[in-house]
Amino acid sequence: MAEVQAGTGDKGLLRFLTCGSVDDGKSTLIGHLLYDCNEVSEDGLSLLETQSKTVGRAGEALDYSLLVDGLLAEREQGITIDVAYRYFSTPRRKFIVADTPGHEQYTRNMATGASNSDVAVLLVDARKGLAIQTKRHSKIVSLMGIRHLVLAVNKMDLVDYDQQVFLDIERDYAEFAQKLGTSIIQAIPLSALAGDNISAPSPTMPWYDGPTLLSYLETVTIRDDPQNKAFRLPVQLVNRPNLNFRGFSGCLSAGNMAVGDKVRVGPSGELSAIASILTPDGEAECASSGDAVTVTLQDEVDISRGNVIAAADDPVPVSDQFAAHIIWMHQKPLLPGRQLQLRLGAQSVNASITELKYVINYEDNSHIAGKTLNFNETGYCNLALDQVVAFDTFENNSDMGGFILVDKLTNETVGAGMIAFGLRRADNVHWQAMDVDKQSRAAIKNQKPCILWFTGLSGSGKSTVANLLEKKLLARGSHTYLLDGDNVRHGLNHDLGFTDEDRVENIRRVSEVSKLMVDAGLIVMVSFISPFRSERRMARQMVETHEFIEVFVDTPLEICEARDVKGLYKKARAGEIKNFTGIDSPYEPPEEADIHLHAGDRSPEELAEEVFAVLEEQNIV
Ligand code: ADX
Repeated sequence: MAEVQAGTGDKGLLRFLTCGSVDDGKSTLIGHLLYDCNEVSEDGLSLLETQSKTVGRAGEALDYSLLVDGLLAEREQGITIDVAYRYFSTPRRKFIVADTPGHEQYTRNMATGASNSDVAVLLVDARKGLAIQTKRHSKIVSLMGIRHLVLAVNKMDLVDYDQQVFLDIERDYAEFAQKLGTSIIQAIPLSALAGDNISAPSPTMPWYDGPTLLSYLETVTIRDDPQNKAFRLPVQLVNRPNLNFRGFSGCLSAGNMAVGDKVRVGPSGELSAIASILTPDGEAECASSGDAVTVTLQDEVDISRGNVIAAADDPVPVSDQFAAHIIWMHQKPLLPGRQLQLRLGAQSVNASITELKYVINYEDNSHIAGKTLNFNETGYCNLALDQVVAFDTFENNSDMGGFILVDKLTNETVGAGMIAFGLRRADNVHWQAMDVDKQSRAAIKNQKPCILWFTGLSGSGKSTVANLLEKKLLARGSHTYLLDGDNVRHGLNHDLGFTDEDRVENIRRVSEVSKLMVDAGLIVMVSFISPFRSERRMARQMVETHEFIEVFVDTPLEICEARDVKGLYKKARAGEIKNFTGIDSPYEPPEEADIHLHAGDRSPEELAEEVFAVLEEQNIV
């Protein structure tokens, strides 16, 4: 691939981000760049002079950070500014700098800022050397695909411009960065405050003969040209104004396309060719990466939002399983196995992490074994999706290889992912069609199969009620099965304990089993504490709407504890059992149970009768 100048446009555009710990001098550095590039108005300048005298922290000198920290006030007022973008230019280039605050939400901010940057400027305080934050930030920017790093060794004025200090930090970093992979590093000694090596070479550091920060940014060449790759058009909109026109709109994320080019659509694999290309300026013969286009195809092809129109001779890979790096961005740790929503471009599917292979130790880039990812941690995982999607590896195309993970209940973004490669293990496993189906299995039993999902605290009476109900059903000839937590934990789930992760897996397995039993035509009773809404919802979504009946056995904790049939509450209170539901492990009561049994002061017979009545009412029996 040829070396090319970064960006597009007349004089080229370079996007970069700055990162570092809070006091490393980011604001001063950016302020100084803006100042040197004449981006500050005369009014702004006189304001800077007065404010530097009154509130500045640079003594007699100008406090350039004031040019940037104007936003600080807004931040303090609670207005969230995750990433601030600033624009400046020189006669050689235009720049967009993403200023990412270094506070504890840093992975989220950095991932946002880094997602389309070409260069990262990592600030280090010359007095302190490399901080753990420097290493974390380096890892994250390298994971986000940034290959050009500036190690900006700042505050050289405070170490008497000592060359040895700079060389030591440069060497330490080179050692660390070796394990980072393919980064190209330029170390620059500077003082953002005094202006050394920002835009003019420093007279006080004659021993340094490398570029100033600004000349580096003006001349760095970025080795990645999306134009040279096979074309990818992720479809954002199917444009159908009338019956005669059917166009597919989106932004070309790589390559060049021309009228007549053969295409293959992902994930369906259908073939066609480009009939026409429409741009905001009218019809065109060709289009290239970055262009917003609407294309029509020569054949009637079934394409919807989220599909990808790609070069036929280099089609997009499709898969429903990946290996990927995940940056976890939520205070609550990852629970492998929990179903999340994965959004990749305009595609949105259910996904879960099936295996956490390792967690990255930012300190020395090593891999450590882990069962979960905590806030701001990064791990390497396998993911399984409930549908195939069209993708690219992140390295090849960050638009189509990057995704976010969203909590399905709260809609919060909990993680960002970068696809390493698709897994092929499902490739040769196909769904086998059977002649006997759920309907015929159910018909011969003369019943409507369903899942009665009993949830509630230990000792709430779930199993007792389910047991009575099963006897009633059996007596009138129904075909049933009762899956009970304690019993299933003796066999299928005997490898699971009571951590949150294990409970998620416990419910995932029993949901799959109960789905199979519904397919067998049975009325299945599931009696598991199943403390989390998210997993109960997942179980619900595995079958048809009318096939899932959530029964909340609502017995207050005091009553369950007073009953203490198995003596477990006593042990939990004494600290002999850890993670006991209701004591030191949470129970999330259903918000909209289909049947809510106020079970504290009623007999199990009455409760079973109540559930039975609903089954009759719904014509299930
Ligand atoms: S679940 O939370 O993963 O759904 P499950 O229903 O399978 O739990 O198992 C709960 C049963 O395991 C309880 O009824 C109790 O008998 C037993 N048990 C043992 N330890 C615990 C614990 N720490 N928390 C809850 N139940 C426990």
